[in-house]
Amino acid sequence: MRVHVADHPLVTHKLTVLRDENTPSPIFRQLVEELMTLLAYEGTRNVRVEPLEIRTPVAVTTGVRIADPKPLIVPILRAGLGMLEGMVKLVPTAEVGFLGMARNEETLEPTTYAERLPDDLSDRQCFVLDPMLATGGSLIAAINYLLDRGATDVTAVCILATPEGLEAVEKALHGREVTIVLGAVDERLNEHGFIVPGLGDAGDRLYGTV
Ligand code: PRP
Repeated sequence: MRVHVADHPLVTHKLTVLRDENTPSPIFRQLVEELMTLLAYEGTRNVRVEPLEIRTPVAVTTGVRIADPKPLIVPILRAGLGMLEGMVKLVPTAEVGFLGMARNEETLEPTTYAERLPDDLSDRQCFVLDPMLATGGSLIAAINYLLDRGATDVTAVCILATPEGLEAVEKALHGREVTIVLGAVDERLNEHGFIVPGLGDAGDRLYGTV
């Protein structure tokens, strides 16, 4: 498992505002999107490209374009939806699949309530989006979904993670290679399964309590 923590003052600045309990929902939503765009820059460092010959006004030259099959972006509902636009802005030709997952508030076990993904992912580069990696249960379930369908190239982008959650993901992967790009690794997981200091419940702060 490769873990990359974005070390950039703009990421830390935006994260600080995001963490602040006084930040209202509209600003929170905007910041999640902006943070995603910054993290997408890191997360797509290995996006597959192919050579493309073009003619400038001066000469013929070779550049690149995003290779086929196009990358598959998989936001984990609800909170991951807040990150989707930030990613799609950078990779507009990507396709999008969806996974809906919710944690049981007592057991902290995730259940999957929605799934809309291609059956065969054997050739696809997948990018999973979820702002929070707390116990790691949701990300493990999401990654397993993709690996079971043949994906071999998975990058997860999360805004915050706990050391406990990262360890759990690493253990669950049994050596299979996955990249995790993060805005920050926080101090710990508390007894209620929340990230400390964290930012609270990202889904609720984005979309309200349901
Ligand atoms: C939150 C968060 C992650 C998950 C992280 O979602 O967005 O998906 O919990 O926790 P874990 O690492 O312990 O699994 P939640 O279940 O609250 O659903 P929501 O996005 O609909 O609010």
